[in-house]
Amino acid sequence: MLVSLVASFYLVSQFKIHFGGPQVPLVGLRHAFESRYYANWRFFRDAASVLNDGYAKFSNSPWRFTRADTDMLMLPSKYVPELQSLSPQIASPTIAHAFNLSGYWTNMDIILKNNLHFRTLQEKLTPHLNQLTVPMQDELNYAVEKDLPKCNGEWVAIKPYHSILRLVSRISARIFLGKPLCRDERWLEISTEFTENVFVSLVVLRLFPRFLHGFISYFLPSTWICCNYIRKAKKLLVPDIKRRQVAMAAGEKSENDMNLLNWMLEIASPRESKPSELAHLEVVMSLASIHTSQMNAVHVLYDLAEHPKYVKEIREEIKEVIAEDGDWLEWKKTSFYKLKKLDSFMRESQRHNPPTLLSYHRVMMSDYVLQDGTVLPKGAHIAMPVNSIQNGITPNPDLFDPMRYYRLRQGEGQAHLHQFATTEKDVLNFGHGKYSCPGRFFAALEIKNILVRLIMDYDWKLPEGQGRFVNLHAHEFIFPNQNGLLYMRQRPQEERLKM
Ligand code: HEM
Repeated sequence: MLVSLVASFYLVSQFKIHFGGPQVPLVGLRHAFESRYYANWRFFRDAASVLNDGYAKFSNSPWRFTRADTDMLMLPSKYVPELQSLSPQIASPTIAHAFNLSGYWTNMDIILKNNLHFRTLQEKLTPHLNQLTVPMQDELNYAVEKDLPKCNGEWVAIKPYHSILRLVSRISARIFLGKPLCRDERWLEISTEFTENVFVSLVVLRLFPRFLHGFISYFLPSTWICCNYIRKAKKLLVPDIKRRQVAMAAGEKSENDMNLLNWMLEIASPRESKPSELAHLEVVMSLASIHTSQMNAVHVLYDLAEHPKYVKEIREEIKEVIAEDGDWLEWKKTSFYKLKKLDSFMRESQRHNPPTLLSYHRVMMSDYVLQDGTVLPKGAHIAMPVNSIQNGITPNPDLFDPMRYYRLRQGEGQAHLHQFATTEKDVLNFGHGKYSCPGRFFAALEIKNILVRLIMDYDWKLPEGQGRFVNLHAHEFIFPNQNGLLYMRQRPQEERLKM
């Protein structure tokens, strides 16, 4: 009985792979009889080879590969301008993100309710970045004091993955919630641990067919932990949200008003103002922002430790900005913009260590025929192999050349292009167009703030004989090594930033 059940399941599944869905070339199966679950296991362990292989064969036309939970229709970046113009009623980024994060089982599907989080970042956070440098630096100073070891001129070993996570989560909390809530250890735990458990859940669930996800979730501790963190967040934030709503209705103002939660309350429609949903959204925004920025900063630090000659160049650049704009604590957003060498280093580091190899996710809500006649059928999950695409337009892509974007920006009319947060048709680490990452300018500012402090105040080195720590891969995701160890030493007072 069981054998015939498994055999029928296998046959239906193979039939669907080969005859269902869009009729475009299939990549990733070694032979026609290979099960999608085995191919998916290979994708889990080495997504880069599947994606690079597909891109090498079909860099200019659609192709697909099969995962355990869905088939992915891979598109070349030539379609980006056309896709950009499609409304979410035709090609939905949000449904695709919720699906890709196993939203139903990880509590991430709250993003399907409304787009308040997206609007608040675009309409409020980004336009206020200039006023946020001071609270960011203030919180960073507090975090450095609290979370980095005291070195007193000695080399001290730290694990940057964990230390930088503390720095990023504290700064994000300050900007997302304001004082004093941002210093609450319960919030710092929720905002970091929720994300880790979402990733554990989705990495595991993606190994199994979709119809088993509910069953597996029931036994998977990380999915219960996610639910628990959402409950804790509501318990912690809801009373505060209600208090803020009352204060706002009474027209009360305080100097602590400039934070994401208050901005959400300001622009939320009555239907979007439910305190428990706002608390849930705050957690979701932590997921979108903290680990993404932290991973980027950790990669940069690992890369700087491996290529120390650039530390000197970047320090010189920071000193030039200090000479022009005054001490770091007086810097505005424009001062950080002047750090073109650091920015270039960050972009090159991200190209070599992208958070994901797959982006520009959309789920087709109706059939759509592209101008060249390519059909995107209703229900198809489309995506792009973003790292293969970016490497495809990069000369000598295997070379780690941290000043390549700095040099490009010296060209005529290029000064504003090729920045860390600049998106292009072929540079999609933050997406591109209307639905690109609304938090990327904040991310750039936050990461630069942290790096300037860490580069100017400390020397860094790898342990003797140790090369760069290898990244960890799971499905399309890439994580910096959590156990990587660097030595840090405080620089002499006169070399450090003035506080
Ligand atoms: C290095 C850091 C970051 C990276 C690499 C990154 C990357 C991305 C990408 C690839 C997307 C999808 C774009 C698309 O659909 O085409 C996205 C969406 C998004 N990001 Fe970021 N991001 C980063 C930092 C942040 C930060 C700091 C925030 C918040 C302050 C943020 C908030 C969001 C939100 C709200 C969305 C939209 C999710 C939705 O559709 O509901 N991100 N990000």
